[in-house]
Amino acid sequence: MGYFLAVANRKGGVGKSTISVMLAHAFAIWGGKRVLLIDLDAQSNSSLILTGNAHWIEAQKNSRNIAAYIEDRMYGQNPIADYVLKGVGDIETDDARPATIDLLPGSLQFEDMQDELISHYSRHNTPFRQAKARCAEHFRRALQFAAPLADLIVLDCAPGISNATQAALRLADQVIVPFRPDSVSEFAVDKISMIIEGKDPEALHATPHNERRYRCLANYVRPGGQDQVFIDTIAADHPTLMTQMPMSGDLANAFFWSPERQTLEEKYTTALEPMAALYRELTAYVPV
Ligand SMILES: Nc1ncnc2c1ncn2[C@@H]1O[C@H](COP(=O)(O)OP(=O)(O)OP(=O)(O)O)[C@@H](O)[C@H]1O
Ligand SMILES: [Mg+2]
Repeated sequence: MGYFLAVANRKGGVGKSTISVMLAHAFAIWGGKRVLLIDLDAQSNSSLILTGNAHWIEAQKNSRNIAAYIEDRMYGQNPIADYVLKGVGDIETDDARPATIDLLPGSLQFEDMQDELISHYSRHNTPFRQAKARCAEHFRRALQFAAPLADLIVLDCAPGISNATQAALRLADQVIVPFRPDSVSEFAVDKISMIIEGKDPEALHATPHNERRYRCLANYVRPGGQDQVFIDTIAADHPTLMTQMPMSGDLANAFFWSPERQTLEEKYTTALEPMAALYRELTAYVPV
């Protein structure tokens, strides 16, 4: 059964989609694993990185996307595999075999669909909190059907704490929380860690770092001392990976889909080294 790895932070623009795709690439190419990425963000950034604009637009028209799947499961038992794009990505192995990466694409309809789901569960005067809980449970169960489809299922979460994100956090075996080393990140990490662990600050504080279900990852790290001060502040309260992702133009460039397949070396260039360090460190935590 597949291992669910969510990449989440309440804060936007911290590198969730970049890290999600990078991990899909690393586990598929270096680990030889079957990877499924589920894009839980209406912005669909990881879908666009993995499959390019044209294929993504086609997936919207053909209803092969997360919104269509979750909506259809309101009324039927449609298998999740029917909504998945097989063999996506612009990456190949050194001997020119395509990476084993599948994608359940994101959809611009995803936010509207979540509202629709809430009203579906709010029928018959159901109290709002209860409707919200049922809605998150609908998502969790729907996502769980992905377990047999891959060795590793990466859940790229939207910023904020939507029902879909809550469901992903509940389902995940492990959560990676990328953050920018700055003065506001601490609040976002504190908040999401409480949701992941389902604990108030005191209970969370009493939980040893190695018993928690999440690991923070410093991203956009610049040389010099100031970033390290912010990273140390987070690491004092939260389990934090030793690997740090540097601020890197080559990593930003890898964000774009290329119509020609490339090796990881060609795609990531100088960002390959921190990517390999991240993969090596994560293999200790992600038993696939
Ligand atoms: N280490 C890095 N160095 C330089 N640029 C980066 C780095 N990590 C991510 N980026 C760039 O920062 C931008 C935001 O990254 P990304 O979309 O992955 O963040 P996100 O957390 O998924 O955003 P959102 O909250 O909008 O979903 C992208 O243009 C990406 O290429
Ligand atoms: Mg994103």
